Amino acid sequence: MTPLAEHLARLMAIEGPLTIARYMTEALTHPRLGYYARAQPIGAGGDFVTSPEISQMFGELIGLWCADRWQAMGQPSPFALVELGPGRGTLLADALRAGRLVPGFVEAARLHLVEVNPALRALQREKLPAAEWHAHVSELPDAATILLANEYFDALPIRQFQKTDSGWHERLVDHEPETDRLRLVLAPTPASRLVPEVLAQAPLHSVHEIAAPAIAQLRLIAERLAAFGGAALVVDYGYVGPATGETLQAVRRHAFADVLDRPGESDLSAHVDFDALRRAADEAGAEVHGPVGQGEFLRRLGIDARADGLARNAAPDGAAAIRSQHRRLTAESAMGSLFKAMAIQRKGLSMPAGFSA
Ligand SMILES: C[S@@+](CC[C@H](N)C(=O)[O-])C[C@H]1O[C@@H](n2cnc3c(N)ncnc32)[C@H](O)[C@@H]1O
Repeated sequence: MTPLAEHLARLMAIEGPLTIARYMTEALTHPRLGYYARAQPIGAGGDFVTSPEISQMFGELIGLWCADRWQAMGQPSPFALVELGPGRGTLLADALRAGRLVPGFVEAARLHLVEVNPALRALQREKLPAAEWHAHVSELPDAATILLANEYFDALPIRQFQKTDSGWHERLVDHEPETDRLRLVLAPTPASRLVPEVLAQAPLHSVHEIAAPAIAQLRLIAERLAAFGGAALVVDYGYVGPATGETLQAVRRHAFADVLDRPGESDLSAHVDFDALRRAADEAGAEVHGPVGQGEFLRRLGIDARADGLARNAAPDGAAAIRSQHRRLTAESAMGSLFKAMAIQRKGLSMPAGFSA
C-alpha cells in the first residue's frame, strides 16, 4: 500500500466506501501525498507526453488561433489570456511567440494560469514570469477572456455507474481489511438516478461515467464568456456522449497501470464527454463549435505548411523528427481523432478557425 492508500483506508474505516470522484480527488490533489502534489509528470522522464511537448507547432498554431479570436473580439486591451492546467508552460510560451506576429496582441494579454501542482507552477513561472496563478476557475478575473485547456478536463474527477439486475448502481472504492487491498463495490446511491434515460436499455454490466466538476467548470467559463466576451478552446481525448464505456485510466512511466494500484503514484484521468460539455455551454448561453478531430483541426490551422517550412530549414534528421511529430499530432492512428478540439465563445463572434472547411 502506498502512503496515500493507507490514508484512504483510514478514511474508509470512518466514512465507508468512497465515490470514484472522491478517490480521484484524494489520489491526484491530496496536498502532501497526491500525484499532482509531488510529481513532475510530463515529458520523457515523467509519466506521459502531451501535444505541446511533442512539437512547437501545436502551441504556435494555437497562438495564432488566439490572436484571431482577439481580433474578432475587437482587440480588447487589456484582456485575460487564461490557461487551465498549463503543465510545463510550453503551450502558452509557444503561443505567445507566434502571437507576436499580430501587433498589439501580446502587449494586451494578461496571463492567468489555473494550476494545482506546486512543482509545475515553479516550471511555469520560469517560462511565464508575468502570469498570475489561481487554484480554481472561479478565481479568474471579470474580463474579456481567451481561454485554453489542453488535457485539463480529463484530469477532473468522474463518477462511475454500472447497470445491474436492479437498475443502475454507483461504483465505489472500498478497503478490504482481510487482504489490505482497495476494491470496487456497487451501491444504489442517490446519484445513480443521474444516468440519462437514453441509456435505459444498455446491456447488463454497462458502465456510464459522469464528470460533474468538468461540467460545472465549463458552465462557469461559458457564463463568463457570455457576460464579458471571449472564446475558449478545449482540446482533449474524448467522445461524444451520452455513452456507456469505462474510460478511467491510470498511467505511470508511459504505461497503463491498475486504477486502484498505487494511488498517488499514477496519473488518473478519464475520457472527456464533449456532448456533456456542449450542453453545459449551451445552457450558459454561449455558442459551441465542434468537436472536430485534432488532426483535422490542426490541418485547417495550417500544420502541413508549417511542418514543411520547419523541415525545409532543418538538418536531415531534424526534418525526419518534424515529420514524425506532425504524424503523431495528426494521424488517425495517433492523436488525430481520439483527441478533439471544441470552441466555446460569446454568441455573434465570427466562425473560429479550424471548425469549418
Ligand atoms: C495532463 S496535464 C496537461 C498539461 C498541459 N496542458 C499540456 O498540454 O502539456 C494536466 C494539467 O492540469 C493540472 N491539473 C490537474 N488537475 C487540476 C485541477 N483540479 N485544478 C487545476 N489544475 C489541475 C495538472 O497539474 C497539469 O498541469
